[in-house]
Amino acid sequence: MSIQPIGIFDSGVGGVSIWKEIHACLQQENTLYLADSKHAPYGNKSADDIVALSVKNTEYLLSQGCKLIVVACNTATTNAISHLRSNYDIPFIGIEPAIKPAALQTKTKSIGILATKGTLSSALFHQTAEAFTKDISVIEIVGEGLVPLIEAGAMDSEETIELLTTYMKPMLAANIDYLVLGCSHYPFLIPSLKKILPPHVTIIDSGAAVARQTKSILEQYNMLNHTTSAPTLQFFSNGDTRTLTQLLGNIQAEVFIEPLDF
Ligand code: DGL
Repeated sequence: MSIQPIGIFDSGVGGVSIWKEIHACLQQENTLYLADSKHAPYGNKSADDIVALSVKNTEYLLSQGCKLIVVACNTATTNAISHLRSNYDIPFIGIEPAIKPAALQTKTKSIGILATKGTLSSALFHQTAEAFTKDISVIEIVGEGLVPLIEAGAMDSEETIELLTTYMKPMLAANIDYLVLGCSHYPFLIPSLKKILPPHVTIIDSGAAVARQTKSILEQYNMLNHTTSAPTLQFFSNGDTRTLTQLLGNIQAEVFIEPLDF
């Protein structure tokens, strides 16, 4: 069991930002990443469609023998993780916008959240937001159009910078000092966001917390891989693999990028 891979899926390349944190934290673990780029973006789909896509991805990762699944997508987590947990008998780790740390640390009592429509309209997001942001103003902005640009590898194109500038305007007007990236694609926009935001705005995402949680669950279930051989790091995509290759460019490991037809 312990040598079986950790399965990770996202609507495309975004979850690679989470995979990097997991690989850094759990270097011995074999990993299998599934980029469902063919169906990206998930963010504007109905909750039922997001559940169906998450089930399809889970079935694929299980058919490959994964011991645990990381849903490296805020949209899929907030809409589908309870369904997955009740229907499959393996641990699932999800990712949600890091509202709590932002709400606890803000000095201006104003935080911004950039996420997909699917995440911001989910019941799970509302529960978390209500629990932690009672005396805080929360500026929620849907990052419409950003995921397709990231999927195309256009992290710092003129169009991307223009969209980000538009989305940051109401947040800056509300004097935010924390920007929560509530979509696993968005960490790849941090260099572009830093060009737009003043230095006192801290950008946070949930990648490192997801990696720590994955480690802790593997420990708890006695599933850590203690072998010393180099891990197998596999990446599967059912879309264009160019951006995936670009994002994995400097990874010091053997990486298989295979097109997948479903
Ligand atoms: N990367 C995803 C997320 O974290 C999904 C974005 C999308 O497909 O719209 O929400």
